[in-house]
Amino acid sequence: MHSTLAVKTTTVNKGFGSGDTRTEVLKAVSFEARLGELLMLVGPSGCGKTTLLSVIAGTLGIDRGEVEVFDAPLHRLDKQAVTRFRATHIGFIFQQYNLIPTLTCVENVSVPLRIQGHSSTVAEKKAAAMLERVGLGSRLQHRPGMLSGGQQQRVAIARALVHEPRLIICDEPTAALDSENGAKVISLLRDVAKAPDRCVIIVTHDNRIFSYADRMTHMEDGRISHTHDNPTISLNPR
Ligand SMILES: Nc1ncnc2c1ncn2[C@@H]1O[C@H](COP(=O)(O)OP(=O)(O)O)[C@@H](O)[C@H]1O
Ligand SMILES: [Mg+2]
Repeated sequence: MHSTLAVKTTTVNKGFGSGDTRTEVLKAVSFEARLGELLMLVGPSGCGKTTLLSVIAGTLGIDRGEVEVFDAPLHRLDKQAVTRFRATHIGFIFQQYNLIPTLTCVENVSVPLRIQGHSSTVAEKKAAAMLERVGLGSRLQHRPGMLSGGQQQRVAIARALVHEPRLIICDEPTAALDSENGAKVISLLRDVAKAPDRCVIIVTHDNRIFSYADRMTHMEDGRISHTHDNPTISLNPR
């Protein structure tokens, strides 16, 4: 892979079902995201955006093609190796937070570090520091159910970033947020993408945040239609 790329998929095909109910969802998708960039992936509902994110994250296998993340050929690794790769290098942020309701904020954010084998003391110390950074230092012992939607999404972001993954994958991270919380979330992600060895990929419909993208890739009916630089990016303080 070219060393300036964080992600490269080459003619990836992915379908679901078989026989009459078979649907091809990704049709020869060749997609690239560069190191040090915030790339937005946009397109109509059902065109395959979430499927493509899942393929890049290694949570969904492919039928044909190649998927490389930081030079690792995910399509050729076994399940255990992909899981290990993901735990080290990839952070996810979903529209629906996916927090564990029975754990406190600090415990939720500790999870990726615990998976990596850190002790609970070390993990919770780092988790608390990350929660401070997203403005939730006073909510460490709260459970998700006691927080607003915007606060829960910031906990989910802290959890996605706490182990300092190089690739952050976000599926409509601001869709459920008001403008103020949406702006907080996107500026945090914008900061992460400034690091030259990291990359942030965001699927979004939210035109309030388009101006934060370095580039935008458009998808339509299972195919990449085009990618362009964002002409408005210079308007943002970076
Ligand atoms: N696990 C699955 N089984 C069957 N069909 C699926 C599955 N996941 C997604 N699809 C179908 O693939 C298409 C693309 O879905 P998705 O990637 O979620 O689109 P988007 O995120 O762009 O809205 C949809 O038609 C959806 O119904
Ligand atoms: Mg989707």
